[in-house]
Amino acid sequence: MDLSAFQWQLDRPIRMKTAEFQKEDRLTHCIFAAQLTRPLLDKLCFIAELIRVLSRTKEGSNKLRELLSHKRAMLYFTQPSTRTFLSFMAACQILGITCNDVRDPSVSSEVKKESPMDSIRMFSSYFDLIIMRSNVSKFAECCAYQMNDLAQNSMRSVPIINGGAGSDEHPTQALLDMYTIERTFQFDHKENSPRSRYMEMRRKYSDLTLGPDNKTYAFCGDLGRGRTVRSLATVLGQYKNVTMCFIAPEDETLQLDPDLRDNLIGKGVNVYELDSLDATVNGKPVLEEADCLYMTRIQKEHDTPELAARYQQLDLSHYKLTLDRVSHMKDYAPILHPFPRDSEEAEIPTDIDNDPRAMYFRQARNGMWARAALLLHIADAVDHLNVLYKEFYGVSAEESLQ
Ligand code: CP
Repeated sequence: MDLSAFQWQLDRPIRMKTAEFQKEDRLTHCIFAAQLTRPLLDKLCFIAELIRVLSRTKEGSNKLRELLSHKRAMLYFTQPSTRTFLSFMAACQILGITCNDVRDPSVSSEVKKESPMDSIRMFSSYFDLIIMRSNVSKFAECCAYQMNDLAQNSMRSVPIINGGAGSDEHPTQALLDMYTIERTFQFDHKENSPRSRYMEMRRKYSDLTLGPDNKTYAFCGDLGRGRTVRSLATVLGQYKNVTMCFIAPEDETLQLDPDLRDNLIGKGVNVYELDSLDATVNGKPVLEEADCLYMTRIQKEHDTPELAARYQQLDLSHYKLTLDRVSHMKDYAPILHPFPRDSEEAEIPTDIDNDPRAMYFRQARNGMWARAALLLHIADAVDHLNVLYKEFYGVSAEESLQ
C-alpha cells in the first residue's frame, strides 16, 4: 500500500500527532495508545461502568440504544479478528448504532484496483464512524490524516478508530486491558473482587494498594511482535511506581523493542528483561513478585521460513503457564491474555481457566463495555448518558457509583 503522500506527517513526533486527533479533551480519532492519558482512561472506565450498570435491565438497555440510534458505523476489518470485531459490533448495538462491515476486500471494488484510501473516503460518505483493522502498520493513522485534510477543506470527515494496525498499535485493547486492571485493583466488583477481599489481601500482602499504581506487571511471550503489549506498556507507563518485567525467548525479534524500553525507563518505570517465567527479580521469583501477569502467544503469522527455523531451536516451555507456576502467584494477581491463545502451543493450558486469577474471558467481555464508552466519548454523547442515568436511578452517576 502506498502511503508515501503522508510520509511527512508520519515522521513527526507522537505529541504533534496526538494533538491533531483531539478537540479539547475529546478524541476525534483513536489511533495511538499514547492518546489514552490517565484522566481520559479514568473517564472512559467510569463511562464503561455506567453502561454496564444500565445494561442490566431491559429498560436500561432500551434507553441506551436510543443514545446513538442516529449513527452508522463501518467495520473495515481486512485482518482476521474475533474479539475486536465482535465487541465493537456489540458495543455499537448497545448504543443503537447501525453497523455494516467489509472483512474481505476481494468482495469490494478493491479487486477493480480501487485504493484502500479511496475505500475509506467512500465509507465516510455513507457512515458516521470507521472502525478498522489492517495488517499495514500506519494505515489507520493515514486514514485519520485523510479525514483531517477533508475537514480542513470543509468536506465530510468522520472519526477513525484503530482496531489493530500491523504489529504496531492496538489502542482499544490497551483501553480494555486498563479497564480490567482498574476494576481488579479497585476491588469494587461485587461478585469477583469485592472490597472485603481487598482487606483480606492487605492482611497477607501488606504493601498492596488500590488502583494500578505501585504494582509489578509481568509480560510474557512474543513481546517483539505483539502490538497489545506495546500499547498496554505505553499506557501503564503513566502510572506511579510501576515495575515491568518482560519475559521473552532469547531471540531479538521476540524481545522488547529497545525504543519502547528507553521510553519506559525515561518515564521512570523500573524495567527488567528476563528469559523465563521461573526467572528472579532482585532475588525473588518473578511470578511471586508480579501483581499482574499478561501472557501472549508467539505470533506465528509473522514468521518467515528463516524465523520459523530459528524458533524451532527455542525452548518455549519457559513461556507457558502451568498449574504449578500459577500456584506461586499472589492470590489476587490477575492473569490476562489479549487472546486468541494458541491451542497447540498452549501458553495458557485450559486447566488454568477455572483458577480465580484467570481473568482473560472477563477481560474480553470488558472490551464490549470499554469500546462502547469510547464510542460514546468520540460521538460527544457522554452528557446524554449522565442525564439518562439520573432519569433512571434518580441520582447522578457520580453519587451512585461512589
Ligand atoms: N485481542 C484481539 O485483538 O483479538 P482479535 O484478534 O480476535 O480481535
